[in-house]
This record gives sequence, structure tokens and C-alpha cells, in this order.
Amino acid sequence: MAIPPPLSTPRPATPSAAAPPVPGTCILYGADYNPEQWDPTVWREDVRLMQEAGVTTVSLGIWSWALLEPEPGRFDFSWLDEVIGLLTDAGIDVDLATPTAAPPSWFYAAHPEARLVEADGTIRNGGSRGICCPHSPAYIEASARITEAIASHVAGHPHVAMWHVHNEYGAPGGDCHCAVSQEAFHTWLRARYGSLDELNRAWGTAFWGQVYSSWEQVGTPRHSGTALNPTCELDFARFTSDSLLARFTAERDIIRQYFPDTPVTTNFMATNCPANDYWRWAREMDVVSTDYYLEAADPDNQIWLAMESDLTRSLAGSQPWILMEHSVSAVSWQPHNWAKMPGEERRNALAHVARGADGVLAFQWRASRRGAEKFHSAMVPHAGPNTRVFREVCKLGQELSQLDQVRGSEVRARVALLWDWNSFWAQDLAWRPSILMRHREQMRRVYEWLWHRGTTVDFVHPEDDLSRYDTVIAPASYLLSQTGAARVTAFVEHGGTFAALPFFAVVDDEECVHEGGAPGPLHKVLGLRVEEIRPVREGETVLLRRTGSQSDTSAPHVISRLWSEDLRLEGAGAEWVADDGPTPGPAVTSHHYGKGKAVYVSVMLEPDGLATVLEPLLELPVDRPTAVDGQSSDRLETVTRHATDGSGRSWTFFMNHDDTPCHLALSGVDLLSGEYLTASSPTVLPAGGVLVVATTAPAA
Ligand code: GAL
Repeated sequence: MAIPPPLSTPRPATPSAAAPPVPGTCILYGADYNPEQWDPTVWREDVRLMQEAGVTTVSLGIWSWALLEPEPGRFDFSWLDEVIGLLTDAGIDVDLATPTAAPPSWFYAAHPEARLVEADGTIRNGGSRGICCPHSPAYIEASARITEAIASHVAGHPHVAMWHVHNEYGAPGGDCHCAVSQEAFHTWLRARYGSLDELNRAWGTAFWGQVYSSWEQVGTPRHSGTALNPTCELDFARFTSDSLLARFTAERDIIRQYFPDTPVTTNFMATNCPANDYWRWAREMDVVSTDYYLEAADPDNQIWLAMESDLTRSLAGSQPWILMEHSVSAVSWQPHNWAKMPGEERRNALAHVARGADGVLAFQWRASRRGAEKFHSAMVPHAGPNTRVFREVCKLGQELSQLDQVRGSEVRARVALLWDWNSFWAQDLAWRPSILMRHREQMRRVYEWLWHRGTTVDFVHPEDDLSRYDTVIAPASYLLSQTGAARVTAFVEHGGTFAALPFFAVVDDEECVHEGGAPGPLHKVLGLRVEEIRPVREGETVLLRRTGSQSDTSAPHVISRLWSEDLRLEGAGAEWVADDGPTPGPAVTSHHYGKGKAVYVSVMLEPDGLATVLEPLLELPVDRPTAVDGQSSDRLETVTRHATDGSGRSWTFFMNHDDTPCHLALSGVDLLSGEYLTASSPTVLPAGGVLVVATTAPAA
């Protein structure tokens, strides 16, 4: 088939497209600032402490709708003007929010019909925060009114350096099932399918006799007797993402009338929010930003952090991005909220910068004394500035100010992982072969293996241009469209190395099983067919050995669990085989196709198993140097940012997550300590330490 042009995301045609996406001239540092929770005397102390901490930028007004518009149509900007004035005098920029993530109580009282209705009919009331029905005419009108009022009020203010629309669209979920949303869903479906016949075909409504004979009969996927129509669910996820995005663009377009040259963003939750197809969203941003909170109970939480950063950078098309929120220490909403260890926040913050962030902001500036988030950490803790936390905050501010030259540089990767929210949504629907085969965890297993081996990766949409990479891995591409399959085929034909993990290319973008089953249109590329998926019972393991080795445990082996597939090889060679389990026979295969190679792993492997199996089959770069004693810690995170001005300059960030020091032969200047490092005298990077080494020539 003819392959459509790649989905590559050109920068949006905004006036700011010519300028660097992140405003300012330094690495942004700051937080959400909620002055409305405090007496004006505290504002003055806040601004003084912000200067002490090196704060450059604060996000203001995120939760202020009720204070800015105390009753419908009556606005009070006095306190906002005063706060912006104080910040301006101190040289601190404002990332001004539209407060539409928390409609006022008067709005809920006046428009009960605008409340969001969940799939089981539960109505979401006010009294907390979160969007109303995104299709509600009253909510749309009120959001436009407050956005217009704020933007026109501050129009042209030079210290409004950026706009922060709403807050974390989709958290809590924006999927609404009220009568107005049903109608909006019909409109969206008509645009997608054109006719009811086409919808009936695409959704496979002949199954269980779900056939629709009029649009009014088509419902959002509400609570029902048992499993719902999966294509309806998938379309509803797409529709909800589009609906929320429409709310963003509506507010953005109002702001642009008053601030044509100021970047507008909204804070994503890149790896963490199944609600939004951020590939589509990213195209509408002037600058991409994300929020990332450590899953503190995970001893290897820096791996999630890195994955979030790499996905965010990829969404930004390799342009610099902003960490809009993270926690200085503990959060308050996990079951057990761990505080960060001394030095951990510095390491976390710099790890984001290493992976392309040109801004590091926290939630929040000053710890709340009232309200639901009073146990959340902040830059200024309850105990005040005379604390270890605030001293570390100030030191980090100082260090970030030493990294100005890193701004605008880019991270380069030769390896990419496929990531598609359509696959995320579809894979995690009901009635799959195993609920334990989940998209995010599958991505994490592969990412974790690559993180430990020191390989920098991008994420890429399967319909994007894959030819930029040497190796493309599909950790969780349960859904792969015909276009995505064509693009993978072309990639391998032209010499690329491709690897897919289990439950791969099972359905197309209508959630319809590919003809002939998995891997559908890629069976020739992979040289095999999946005859049957045969999950392994929980608790049971399957031993894999290298093809041709002895079938006793003296030979190198790996353990798989939970998943196996019965493969029929049609050209592929078996690299690893299972002797026991539900599918004795080939488990890992490789196949030469065109000028390239396609590897298939049909079993569920942990990161160390992936390393054993895939290392010999894929030639992957390692971006981490070997320590001078020959030991290379797999917990030494190493990422390089490269100048884009042709100067050949680069900056390599080293974060030692190990509990022992690391001895490295490095040349260049450590921008944090100012020391000159020479390869002839080893640099000691202490446990938990960070270096940012500037070099003038391209890294070897
Ligand atoms: C984020 C949210 C912030 C704050 C933070 C706490 O999801 O955007 O407003 O609630 O969580 O960790």
C-alpha cells in the first residue's frame, strides 16, 4: 500500500514559533504560587524568599476563579494586580493561569446541569476541584468569560511571560456521560464515520446484536450488564481527549488576542494520564510542559522520572520543555507519602534538565496550612525558611542559574520506543487474555532495561518518521494501524532494526483483530504468525534457553512468566526456546527482512531477562562512560545535551543513583562546582552526586 506522509508534528504556526519555546534567558525555576491562601504581609516575605531562592517564574492564579470572579460577571483583580506588581518589582516572571479547573461554588449552584456525569451515573459535585462537563454550554461560556476578563485585564504586561491554561486536563477524568455529552459524541461520530452503517461496521455491532438504526440510540459507554463494545470505548476515549483539547484551544485562542507573542501551554501528565492523546495535544502547544510526581514507594523511581522526561521531550519534538510541577519532597495523595532524602530533590531536578527540560517548577511555593494538600511538601515548608528543605531549595536555585548555557540544547537518541495512546487505551480495556498485561507496566519493563544499560531513547508515534532511528522497539503496540504497520515495514526494509514485545499488532485502529491474527500486516516482516495466545498461570514460570543449548539449567537461561504465544515460524529463526510451559517451542525469534532485521519476543520478561535475550540481537549504543576501575554502575544516569548552533558544544549530566562513589575519567568543566576536570586525574562522583560537564568538542 502507499504510505501516507509521516505524522511528524511541525511546530504550530504561532507568532512564537520563531522564538525558543521556553521564555526567558535562563533555566526557569519556581513553583505554583497560591497567594490567595495567605495574608498580604506574607506576600512580601514570599517575594523576598523567592529572590533568595533564585526563583525566576511562578505559576499564578490556577485555583483563583472564585476570588477573581466572586459573582457571575463581577471581577476583582485588585489582589492579583498587587501580587503581579510585587513579583514584577522583584524581577520574577509570571506564568499566568486560567482558573477553569476549579469552577466557583456559585457556578455549581447556578448550573447543576453542568456537573460531570460518570459512566455509572454518579454526579460529580463541587466542593473539590476538577472540570465540569467539557461540553456544557454554561461551563464553556463561563470559562471563556473568565479567560477573556483576565487576559484583557493584564493585556501587554511584560512580566506575564507565559500562559498556563487550566490545570492537568483529564485529572480527574473529563469523560462525561450527561445528555449534552451524548449529543456531542454523536456529532463527533458523524464526523468520523459519516453514516450509521459505517459506524455499525467499524464497531462490529452485529456482535451481541448491538446494531443501531438511529443516531439517538448510540450511547456513550455507560455502566451496563457486562463488557461494553470495545470500539465504542476506544472512540469515546478519543472523543474525550478531543473534547478536552477543544477546551484548551478555546482558551488559548482568547489569550492570543491579547498576548500574540507569549507562549501558551497546559501542564501534561505525560506517562501518567491515560485521558489524553498527547501527540495530538502537543501540536497545539507553544511550549510543552508536564507534571511529574515520584512514585515514592518504588526504590527505582528515578526510572519513571526519566521515562516521563523522555516522553515529554519527544512530545515536544525534541524542543526544550518545562517541568511545570514536581514535589520538593513528599506528596500528600499517595497511600504512604515518603519524604525525599537530602540531595534527592537536587538529583531529581537536574535529571529533568538532563533530559531536555529548560524549566523546573514545583508544586508549590509555600506549604498550605489549610485545605486538602496541607501535608504536601513545598519550597517553603511549614517550619519556614530556616530548614534543610529551604536551604536545598536555595542551593538548587543557585546551581540552575549556572546552567544558562545549556538552555535550548537538545538530547539526541538513536533508539526509539513506540508509544501510542490508542494502544494504551485499547490494551487496558476489559476481557483481554490477562489483566496483568498492562500497557504502562510493559513500557516500563523495556524502559527500565534500557535505562540501566545507559541507552538514551526517544518515544515515537508508530505513524511518525521512524527513519531517524537505528533501532525501534515496540514494547506495547497491541493496537497498530495499517499505516503504522506500513511505516514499520518501510523502516525494516531500509535497514532498521525492529523489536516487538508480546501481544503485538493484534488489532487495528478500529479495535478489529488484524486479518489472520497477530502480527497482522507485519507477519512477513517478523516472519511468523501467532497461532494462539496462551497465558501462563500466575505463580508459574517458564524456562527459556538459547536455541541449540542443552535443555538443563547449566546453560544460560531466562525465566518468563504470565504470557506465552504459540508461534508458527514462516521464515524467522528461533533464538530462544521454551522447553516447558503452555507453548514449548520458539519464544524469541529474529528475521532478516529487506536490509534490516525484525526480532520478536513472545513472552513476558523482566528487565534482566530482556537484557539477556535482546543484548545479542540488537546493537544498541551505551551513552554512559566506563568507570576508571572498569566498573560501570548501572545506576549512573548519563545523558548528554548538544548545542544546536553548530558549535559542537555539549553538556553531559551524570547522576549517581548508587550508594557508592563512582570514579570517572572526564574532561571539561563541571558547571556546578566550576572545577576543570581532566581525564588524567579521575573525578570522584560521590553517591547521590551530580556533575554537569561542559565540553567544547562533540563527545566521542
Ligand atoms: C497535581 C496538581 C497540583 C497539586 C499536585 C500535588 O496533580 O496539578 O495542583 O494538587 O498535584 O501533588
